[in-house]
Amino acid sequence: MATLKSSFKSTSESLVLGLATKDGKLVIESGASTIATKSLITILEDLGATGQREEIVKVPAPAGTSARLIIFTGLGDAASGSRYPHEVLRRAAGAATRALSGKKSADFALPHTTAVELSAIAEGIGLGSYSFIEHRGASKAEQKAPLASAIIISKLAENADVKAALKHATVVSKYVNIVRDLVNTPANHLSPVKFVTKMKALTTSLGVKVEVLDEKALKSKGYGGIYSVGQGSANPPRLLHISYSPPKAKKRYAFVGKGITFDTGGYALKPAAGMDAMKTDMAGAASIIAAALAIAELKIPISINAYACMAENMISDNATRPGDVITTLSGKTVEVLNPDAEGRLVMADGLTRAIADGKKAGGLDGLIDVATLTGAQVVALGIRTSGLMTNNDGFSKEFLAAAETTGELYWPMPLPDELRATLDTPVADIANVGDKSGGMLVAGVFLREFVEPGVPWLHVDIAGPSYVDKTPFGYNAIGATGVTVRTLVALAESAASQG
Ligand code: BES
Ligand code: MN
Ligand code: ZN
Repeated sequence: MATLKSSFKSTSESLVLGLATKDGKLVIESGASTIATKSLITILEDLGATGQREEIVKVPAPAGTSARLIIFTGLGDAASGSRYPHEVLRRAAGAATRALSGKKSADFALPHTTAVELSAIAEGIGLGSYSFIEHRGASKAEQKAPLASAIIISKLAENADVKAALKHATVVSKYVNIVRDLVNTPANHLSPVKFVTKMKALTTSLGVKVEVLDEKALKSKGYGGIYSVGQGSANPPRLLHISYSPPKAKKRYAFVGKGITFDTGGYALKPAAGMDAMKTDMAGAASIIAAALAIAELKIPISINAYACMAENMISDNATRPGDVITTLSGKTVEVLNPDAEGRLVMADGLTRAIADGKKAGGLDGLIDVATLTGAQVVALGIRTSGLMTNNDGFSKEFLAAAETTGELYWPMPLPDELRATLDTPVADIANVGDKSGGMLVAGVFLREFVEPGVPWLHVDIAGPSYVDKTPFGYNAIGATGVTVRTLVALAESAASQG
């Protein structure tokens, strides 16, 4: 992770500077660095640089600098007083870091005047220094290894605020990168059991409690949703519950995550083309557990109970058939008309359990579920904006305000009451599929049936934004993004600061 340096005596290989544009002219934003930039402008003009966001231009460093290479990272329109929005800084730092893959060291001299701006830069570096090379040959792996060491050139004194900002950036990017690793891992290397083992290994020394329900316990205790989705697989289902209860907790939140380690669609088998992407169907579970661990590591005084609903949706003579009726933990029966709508089945049990635990503890201040739930989310909002549904507009606004500070994109979507009737069936309390149109909302309306009206609840559909398929951007490489971790942590931080 990035360390801070105020002086500009450095031995780093590369130097990162910002490049902006004003009235059609290039503006070099060299932050706290002392480099002479005049001669560089001509070179940049000759190279056709524009200073637009996401643009990376590499030039040999002029004589007299310790660096060999200068990386210009686009900041877009020049900001007055060099005060750039946090996400612009985060992405510029991230894009530069990705362009530095395979390099040993770099100095980042990007404009910033506050601890929060510094934190955004550090986060961009932390998130940009990620690559999934676990299964690649040695030489290829080397080429793609993330930037090994980064220094941020800064004039800020290392006071408590700056230290906390750097710590936040370090911890948060560590956990986002853990999510990315889990989501990128192929399903033959990540069963529900392995997911639990890996997550459990991360909990030592964080002072959290861990509870795991195996397939026997899930069956005997009535978790019919999770059990019925997992019963077709040789890799049995699990419920992982992590509980962080700090002394003097200011609020009590519960998180629930969809953890389908692979989604074939079951007997509603998905088409072969693109089915490989369904190794990412546990992104919600990975994100909520990682967020809980980050909140614990940062010692934020908010109590968190996180529930990862883990199963593999496969085909076999034990698999759930279309038309099967199951009984969920809530006692409600569900006709499984479509075994590919499996996420809502496991989530139903997770929500019921979270609410029951919350009640025992004196009530929940918030319940948030995160799931790669519907293809309809991608159709409606695309690959960068997650769908946000709720029974409590105030809570939704708090979440959106926290998201604003992270650069993660969410958009509020409705839960129209009339969609409930489309889930009616003569044979059970509810069917697992309803109207095709508005599929994201139908899934949300299904989940709402398992939430008690008094519990402030958010449903976050991250089907698209959990993964970058084609075009890397900012601090995101191709592959898993780790979305929601940073917003969940930011929400806890803001709730803690409100007292
Ligand atoms: N895991 C999928 C949703 C998904 C699609 C995630 C694309 C990421 C990218 C989910 O389990 C699913 O299959 N949903 C169905 C629901 C339908 C059967 C009502 C869908 O969206 O088609
Ligand atoms: Mn499915
Ligand atoms: Zn799924």
